[in-house]
Amino acid sequence: MAELGVNIDHVATVRQARRTDEPDPVWAAALAELGGADGITVHLREDRRHIQDRDLAVLRETVGVKLNLEMACDDEIVDIACRVKPRQATLVPERREEVTTEGGLDVVGQKERVGRVIGRLQKAGIVVSLFLDPCPEQIAAAAELGANAVELHTGQYALAAPGNAQERELKTLQKAAAAVLKQGMVLHAGHGLTYRNVRSVATIDGMGELNIGHSIIARAVMVGLVEAVREMKRLIS
Ligand code: PXP
Repeated sequence: MAELGVNIDHVATVRQARRTDEPDPVWAAALAELGGADGITVHLREDRRHIQDRDLAVLRETVGVKLNLEMACDDEIVDIACRVKPRQATLVPERREEVTTEGGLDVVGQKERVGRVIGRLQKAGIVVSLFLDPCPEQIAAAAELGANAVELHTGQYALAAPGNAQERELKTLQKAAAAVLKQGMVLHAGHGLTYRNVRSVATIDGMGELNIGHSIIARAVMVGLVEAVREMKRLIS
């Protein structure tokens, strides 16, 4: 069975909307662990729009399961990763103006830079995964650079209309998954996975880890709202 990495960035997004101290992603990580999360994923972005340096430092001390740091190939962030030493780092492309990570990392076009970052992280004892589009050339380049794992970008699959288009995207993912495993790397997948579309990806042969954020946090808001209102009513009365 594939492991579940819960991405808690959106908890920090809500906190940052008010620049206050709640909801605390550290607390959310503990609750996710109680729910059975196999990993906690956070993205320390260059613009610090959600997760802050303090969050990463405290999570490193408190998370009992795998802590996976999503990060760009940026010198400042690589320095932080090597100092904090999460169990795993997932290298992603990052653009300031994007709403979320768009597209996979271009390893083919920047082999030297990505290779240097992989080397630094691995030397610090961190397992390195690369977030890639399901593209054979990118997967081959990841293997050449000694990446430990590849996280296949499931965004196109998630966006495709159910039916033929989604089936086509699923086939592309299945082929890419086989290539990742054949090259001796661990298979991960993520982005845009929801309660409706996760099954087909979770059952791809050899799937080791799924990283899911938006859908889980969105669901948590809905299933928690009734109780949250009840508690406030109790206090008011
Ligand atoms: N994997 C990677 C590499 C990501 O950048 C993200 C988004 O932060 C996710 C998984 C989770 O995507 P979603 O929030 O759509 O579940």
